[in-house]
Amino acid sequence: MTRNILVTSALPYANGPIHIGHLVEYIQTDIWVRFQRLCGHHCHYFCADDTHGTPVMLSARAAGITPEALIEKVHAEHKSDFDRFFVTFDNYYSTHSPENRHFSELIFKRLNEAGAIVTRDVEQAFCEQCAIPLPDRYVKGTCPKCKAEDQYGDSCEQCSATYRPTDLENPFCATCGTPPVRKTSSHYFFKLANYEAPLKALIAGGFTQQSVANKLQEWFSSGLKDWDISRDGPYFGFKIPGEDNKYFYVWLDAPIGYMASAKHYCDAHGLDFDAMWPGEHSAPGDQDAYELYHFIGKDIMYFHALFWPAMLTGAGFKVAKKLFVHGFLTVNGEKMSKSRGTFIKAATYADHLDPEYLRYYYASKLTDSVDDIDLGIEDFTNKVNSDLVGKFANLASRSGPMLSNKLDGCLGTLDAEGRSLIDTLTAVRDQVVSDYENLKYAAVVRTLTALADEVNRYVELKRPWEQIKSDPEGTRFTLTAILNAMRVLTIYLKPILPVFAEKIEAFLNVAPLQLSDLETVLENHPIQKFKHLFQRVEEKQVHAMIEESKDSQAKPQPAPVEVTEAPTFKEEVTIDDFIKLDLRVARVVEAGPVEGADKLLALTLDVGGVEKHVFAGIAKAYKPEDLVGRLVVFFANLKPRKMRFGVSEGMVLAAGHGGSDIFVLSPDSGAKPGDVVS
Ligand code: MSP
Ligand code: ZN
Repeated sequence: MTRNILVTSALPYANGPIHIGHLVEYIQTDIWVRFQRLCGHHCHYFCADDTHGTPVMLSARAAGITPEALIEKVHAEHKSDFDRFFVTFDNYYSTHSPENRHFSELIFKRLNEAGAIVTRDVEQAFCEQCAIPLPDRYVKGTCPKCKAEDQYGDSCEQCSATYRPTDLENPFCATCGTPPVRKTSSHYFFKLANYEAPLKALIAGGFTQQSVANKLQEWFSSGLKDWDISRDGPYFGFKIPGEDNKYFYVWLDAPIGYMASAKHYCDAHGLDFDAMWPGEHSAPGDQDAYELYHFIGKDIMYFHALFWPAMLTGAGFKVAKKLFVHGFLTVNGEKMSKSRGTFIKAATYADHLDPEYLRYYYASKLTDSVDDIDLGIEDFTNKVNSDLVGKFANLASRSGPMLSNKLDGCLGTLDAEGRSLIDTLTAVRDQVVSDYENLKYAAVVRTLTALADEVNRYVELKRPWEQIKSDPEGTRFTLTAILNAMRVLTIYLKPILPVFAEKIEAFLNVAPLQLSDLETVLENHPIQKFKHLFQRVEEKQVHAMIEESKDSQAKPQPAPVEVTEAPTFKEEVTIDDFIKLDLRVARVVEAGPVEGADKLLALTLDVGGVEKHVFAGIAKAYKPEDLVGRLVVFFANLKPRKMRFGVSEGMVLAAGHGGSDIFVLSPDSGAKPGDVVS
């Protein structure tokens, strides 16, 4: 039965380039979409740029252009990046569109009517210099818990505390450094908890993978909180109807962008959007006309597994059948990093390497789990060379030219042996189909490489290059078997390697291959001239790509603007309070980085013969190796604190503005470890 399927990937932010981390998602989704189409299903794939919010507004300001001009430029870049990786969206639209405004207003109105919207006063940070309300990430200051400086307004990287930006001590605007003022304003809130029961039922019905469901359970247990869905102007977004200076928060209209993209496509192609995504003017029977699926990364689970289905339910729109969540990309086992050159833009990759290599490599790694996937640079090179070039491309390039040059370029028939080889290959059809459907691409690739090995063994056994000398017509049987095997493998590989498949189709002189073509074989059929398929990856290409990624990205962070006003001091304390602090000189005996916290160093200190372990937020200022042997002032009787990375048994004192501008004791201070500082 032919299925009607609607698929979405998360909408990338319009304030940055597509990188190889994003591509995990778009390649994963595109393979699934292409697989559905290969099976003959009607599968539509929709996406868009996520254009609204403060970051886009400020980037445009900094570039001296309007937000509209910025998002138009980025849209063209994103589209070109996706094209280069053969991602086949039916529509790549924008959240800054009339359709999106329409559905955002409609959904908001319906939620309001359903009693799911309330208003409440909110105190927020406002920068008078920049003349904008500051989102959490745009306020920095001292952590109210551990007093670490230069922390974001929502959480502390040192002690992992979460808080509101108004809780920060000595707050400043991350853009201009000015201390913000507090303003009170009325905001709209969505009462998520109203939908707890339908959400729980949805999750229990297999909406997500089990590990995601477990995470959601934690969130249910800690209670569903009201969600602030409005922002005060100036803000780049949709104005809330009836308001002068309030806008929908970007995350309200972003997922509605899935609908807007589908609607725009339907209108342009004479399709019935109300059947595709029932809710606005539904007719009976529409509910099951389409299957709806979302693909997302694990970082945006909360929005897609809770807010989004709750909004849809409250507004009477259809909710997706499944939410597929994938993990994050690491490169060589670590987070993508600008300084290591592993923060690789899609465009940079495509300038240096064949995008199909990455499609193949990701496929070989992707499973249905939420675990992170790793791109090992060496592993990538090996796998491409041994599988793509060594196993698949080789089969065609060893047999194709021989048939054209020596046997008039025409396939013969399959003999019994050839038939049995093809039967072996077509026997895995159901397995491959179910693995694709269930996102087990790594299993598909394993099956296919094993089959390619089988065919290569057949080639070695038959040795057509020798056979041709004495038995040309026997060789025709051999080559007919090999090329039919190639055809079967190509059908299976087509969702992963669309360009490779096109080349083989041209060479075999056949119409675009479909899964149903597994039921036939190609006999007594003229083929075309063989064209080269894949080049080996050279290590130097990979290195060039990494070098280029280093250059374009590793710009130093602009230092916060110096605040010239007199500092505001903390609450007064007495000398009695002060003498409670045991401050000592200590020598750094070991220093090393902390996995997952790029501002922290793990230090082992010698405090006059006593060893102490602490975490210090000075990684931006000192290389670990430069600190070893240096003296620091150590706050020795601070109660040990359990941090995300381990226990910190005190605190190292340093002076400076933060970032790289931090100083420990001068090396020639003449102090000895254990000395009392007073
Ligand atoms: N704009 C939001 C999504 C709105 S959807 C209504 C957003 N954008 S994003 O550009 O940050 O990310 C887009 C998608 O790419 C997300 O699903 C995200 O999880 C995924 N990835 C971004 N970086 C990634 C990696 N490093 N690795 C794997 N996926 C990553 O979130
Ligand atoms: Zn500012």
